[in-house]
Amino acid sequence: MNKYIGSIKKISSRLEELTRYEKCSYEALLEAQHYSITAGGKHLRGLILLETAKLGGAQAETALDFACAMEMVHTYSLIHDDLPEMDNDDLRRGKPTCHVKFGADIALLAGDALMTKAFSVIAGDSFFSDRKKTECIRILADACGEHGMLAGQTIDKLSENKKIDFDSLCELHYKKTARMFCAAVQMGCVLGNISADTEKELLKIMNSLGLVFQIKDDILDVTSQSGVIGKPVNSDEKSLKSTFVSLLGIDKSHEMLKNIATEIKNNPIIVKYPFFAELTDFFVNRTI
Ligand code: IPE
Ligand code: IPE
Ligand code: MG
Ligand code: MG
Ligand code: MG
Repeated sequence: MNKYIGSIKKISSRLEELTRYEKCSYEALLEAQHYSITAGGKHLRGLILLETAKLGGAQAETALDFACAMEMVHTYSLIHDDLPEMDNDDLRRGKPTCHVKFGADIALLAGDALMTKAFSVIAGDSFFSDRKKTECIRILADACGEHGMLAGQTIDKLSENKKIDFDSLCELHYKKTARMFCAAVQMGCVLGNISADTEKELLKIMNSLGLVFQIKDDILDVTSQSGVIGKPVNSDEKSLKSTFVSLLGIDKSHEMLKNIATEIKNNPIIVKYPFFAELTDFFVNRTI
């Protein structure tokens, strides 16, 4: 994924620019928002959006603010995910979580601010038509909304300290994680004028990849070190979460990762779009 570092840096610096602030009476909110968005995430969802738009011929620069909007919604979800009432974690991206640094009240508001700002950034874009912007707003809102990421987070909380079955766990992971990855592809397709048939195939891939990403996240939670992943380890066990590791164990979870990855790579469309093959390898082998 080294060849994408340039694009990832562009997303980082634009995010910094979009959240720069001046002294004012509500500075704590702006500081907290800036702190979390510039803390150094991998920016995978933004990158996927940019690369998908490019496949269809869009200039990457024109889709940059849409990639930033995607990352703003994602970071908001992490700020809220870490709150004491949710996963109660104190480390994120190698730094104290937003609520540890600024208090739960300001962290809650900073998450809200990032989420609403994302939609304002898309609406304010000057490269794309109103029709495309409206479509992207709808895709992003649906992916993070009550039938998407928030539904996943709800099922995640309600499944604590319970044994849920395999299909329910897949639904949980699909909603809380894969939906946002799928939204990145869908927005990229809208901006890059990608045909409905190609979009359908790319979405199939992304759907499986989203699942791969969260299974690997569950594995890293028990096999990694907080100094490496930049967030606490054994957080899932502490909260008695339903995860792939708790349901299947580490070996079976690894096996599942490999099987899904092979299935993705057997999709004929992957030859034409090697970015998604590289992404598959990264998702399976990542250590961060
Ligand atoms: C973490 O996502 C949340 C999950 C869906 C597992 P990332 O691992 O992409 O987080 P950052 O943005 O790189 O910090
Ligand atoms: C969170 O999943 C997914 C979100 C929608 C924020 P996790 O709770 O497993 O993410 P981490 O492990 O804290 O990054
Ligand atoms: Mg969580
Ligand atoms: Mg968490
Ligand atoms: Mg996790």
